[in-house]
Amino acid sequence: MLRQKIESGLLPQWVLSDPDMYELELEKIFGRTWQFLAHESELPEPGCFVTRWIVNDPVLVTKTKSGEIKAFLNSCTHRGTHLCAADYGKQKSFTCPYHGWTFNLEGKLIGVALGDKVYGEEMKKEEWDLRPIPKIGVYQGMIFGNLDPNAMPLEDYLGNMKWYFDILLARSDGGMEVKGVPQRWVVQANWKVTSENFEADPYHVQMTHRSAKELGIAPKDPFFPGYGHQVVLENGHGINVITADATGRSPFPFQGMPESMWPMFERNLTSEQLELMRNAIVFVGGVFPNLGFISFSAPPLEGETNIYNYLNFRVWRPLGPDKVEVWSWFMIDKAAPEEYKEKSYLSYLGTFGPSGILEQDDAEIWARIAQASGGLMARDKELSYNNVLNYLMGLDRVEPDETFPGPGVAYPICFLDAVSRNMHKYWLELLIKDHSIAEGVYR
Ligand code: FES
Ligand SMILES: [Fe+2]
Repeated sequence: MLRQKIESGLLPQWVLSDPDMYELELEKIFGRTWQFLAHESELPEPGCFVTRWIVNDPVLVTKTKSGEIKAFLNSCTHRGTHLCAADYGKQKSFTCPYHGWTFNLEGKLIGVALGDKVYGEEMKKEEWDLRPIPKIGVYQGMIFGNLDPNAMPLEDYLGNMKWYFDILLARSDGGMEVKGVPQRWVVQANWKVTSENFEADPYHVQMTHRSAKELGIAPKDPFFPGYGHQVVLENGHGINVITADATGRSPFPFQGMPESMWPMFERNLTSEQLELMRNAIVFVGGVFPNLGFISFSAPPLEGETNIYNYLNFRVWRPLGPDKVEVWSWFMIDKAAPEEYKEKSYLSYLGTFGPSGILEQDDAEIWARIAQASGGLMARDKELSYNNVLNYLMGLDRVEPDETFPGPGVAYPICFLDAVSRNMHKYWLELLIKDHSIAEGVYR
């Protein structure tokens, strides 16, 4: 039934609130896909660490003495409490707060409190090392983990998203850096709603964010941000390359970044990538299932008219069928002038930070979707109330634009549900995939 609905551009509303569906998603989707953990700039030196989550699995990410990135289940092998309770820091080893076992940055058990006296010399310490996250992958400084030891390599999973990541993450010498720590807040929402909002839904901007238009943070044109291209990528990923208007030329090239940086972009990008970077005013998209990003330009809201670009990555960490913890990273080019970085941070705070004008608009709507999806009528699986949600925009009407310079299937409009439909298809594919038999075989 789900497949038939999804193929016709519909999604039954019960999947946004059903507890059994949520449990299945945890196992089949979050237990199998690449999950973003941290950016390398958060671990600048040996000994640096951050603590993160892959949904319900606490993760300790470290940089070892030799500079290698490692990730472990942040759970002591003695009795299981969090080994490290801090968000981030720098140290040579971790001592468990419960009974004092100590592990090094490589996850080795190196000290047992009163060890020989209480366990005897025969205790084999090497059997009690931290449990590594089964797979780790890094692309352009983005560190991912995967709980599935048989998962495809990260680069294969990202697929053509890498080409767009190169624009966002590798345009500058030295790459990007995270400023501060990721901000976190909890919204009442289903993770699919938040993921889709970033990856696939420029259409909501004209209404939800109307006040931003009225304030001049976004172009007033009612069709904005429908201009540009919506690009469908493999494995449920997608991106919207948004232009200011139908001409496709940006009124502020390179998202308002200083002219002094332009030659660097020319050096680091291909001519096709450079073309998009010069003309797009927003890149907004997602890596399935729950990593969203936006490269956005706005004035820093202090009466200033200059435009400041920033890159915001966010993980939508599910805490239940109707709850998401948002993890939001601010990133900017390491090579940008310091003053630009400061202004860019203000621009982020005023727009997509937790108190940003655009962020608050969305959070309100998402909560109401969660509320409306939890009642008896919306949860009816027989669909006797015709309670399917509408993903029909552009279905069988909009043809791909073969002249678009980037990879993927690019449609010449961003008010479109092509990426949403692609997400739903991949979501279902993962849900029905049977991992108990050989990899790649479907039930
Ligand atoms: S639980 Fe960590 S030392 Fe006992
Ligand atoms: Fe929004």
